[in-house]
Amino acid sequence: MSNPKSEALFARGRKVLIEGVSSASRGPAAFGTTPRYMSHGQGARLYDVDGREYIDWMMAFGALPLGHAHPVIVETVAREVARGTHFATALEVEVEVAEMLVRLLPHVDKVRFANTGTEAAMGAFRLARGHTGRRKIIKFEGHYHGWWDAVLVNTNPYPPTLLGHPNDPIRIPDSSGIPEEAWKDTIVVRWNDFDALERAMALHGRDAACVVTEGVMSNMGVIPPKPGYLQRMQDLCREHGALFYLDETVTGFRLAAGGCAELYGLNPDIVTYGKALGGGLPMAMIGGRDEIMAGLEWGKVLHFGTHNAGRLALHVTRVMLETMLADDQAGFRRIKNLGKAMADEIRKVAKHSNRHRLICQNVNSMFQIFFTEADEIADYRDFCRHVDRVKFRDFAVRLMDKGVYMNPSATLHSLSSVVHTEADITATADAIAAVLEEMP
Ligand SMILES: Cc1ncc(COP(=O)(O)O)c(C=O)c1O
Repeated sequence: MSNPKSEALFARGRKVLIEGVSSASRGPAAFGTTPRYMSHGQGARLYDVDGREYIDWMMAFGALPLGHAHPVIVETVAREVARGTHFATALEVEVEVAEMLVRLLPHVDKVRFANTGTEAAMGAFRLARGHTGRRKIIKFEGHYHGWWDAVLVNTNPYPPTLLGHPNDPIRIPDSSGIPEEAWKDTIVVRWNDFDALERAMALHGRDAACVVTEGVMSNMGVIPPKPGYLQRMQDLCREHGALFYLDETVTGFRLAAGGCAELYGLNPDIVTYGKALGGGLPMAMIGGRDEIMAGLEWGKVLHFGTHNAGRLALHVTRVMLETMLADDQAGFRRIKNLGKAMADEIRKVAKHSNRHRLICQNVNSMFQIFFTEADEIADYRDFCRHVDRVKFRDFAVRLMDKGVYMNPSATLHSLSSVVHTEADITATADAIAAVLEEMP
């Protein structure tokens, strides 16, 4: 399909931007071809510069639970921008949003605002080390916690022959330019594996500042935790005096009003949020109990930021939360039902395809398609061995030609928002069926 305006922008963009974009996940590294340059969004739709329309299931990597240009957000931004975007001073709205968050999240007594998930995670790791006086960080294969040096390790090592023994994963930084000292205290463990966790905690638990996990593995598609796994992780943290750090950057204000902590009945020591929290504007936070968060007081563990608690973003955060929570959390019910319905439709289409084998994994509003012969993908090693990433990219690019936008990376996932409809689900299922018919 020809996209002359996107092609022209790509040619111009490559001269002045790395790969023509501002993150590898938006450009040729992810698409294997020219990315579509978008011009605007409305509701559940994105529109590109060539005038094409897409049902958007990526929703800015999950930053838009209310979809694009939701009237309450447009109204809020228009009103507040006229009163000043950012002061870097104390603010009334900062106190009010923090009060809302503390009311919503029983494991959070205090919050500290930041701008991105990476920044919040950096602050949380420093806080965990400061609070415990310990150095080690225990993280899991295939989990991503931002692009900070200490944890950009084994987020996506490939091929599987590089992974090493499951009891002792080979540690592999995901980038050049990361000094060994930065990750020498990072321990990597296979996820969703009770034995591996017990072993790692026996070996390192007493030296660990924290064990950090995504509640649902969201940077390897959608991989839910095995029953009792996160609870066991939390118990082992308590036994060994390590903080249990639940990274809710993806899952927060997505899977439930209380995130994975609510969904799986957890009581984490530290959480970080980003993405959906800002409703489309940059907003993130670190949260936890009083005695831990007190570590961030002046003179103890430092965390700064010119743009922390931006007033425009805080006003949008507030209105996003109010809208999602209205009518006894109807927004959260809606995105959950839509996500499940979309996953069910995909499974029906998959069942009818005699040309391709695919499964759909889903937790509430999040879902991902895996081209695989396996019945289930339960961890990163499964993903490496059994998921056809190249085929998924081909599939997603073809889907774009049919007016459906999913991120072309099999390691990411799709998300519903409150503005998706039953009709979008039907149209998406039809487009998927058509692509499966034409795809080699
Ligand atoms: C679980 C998790 N933590 C942290 C981050 C980093 O967030 P940001 O991209 O806002 O820096 C991400 C981003 O995808 C994430 O998925």
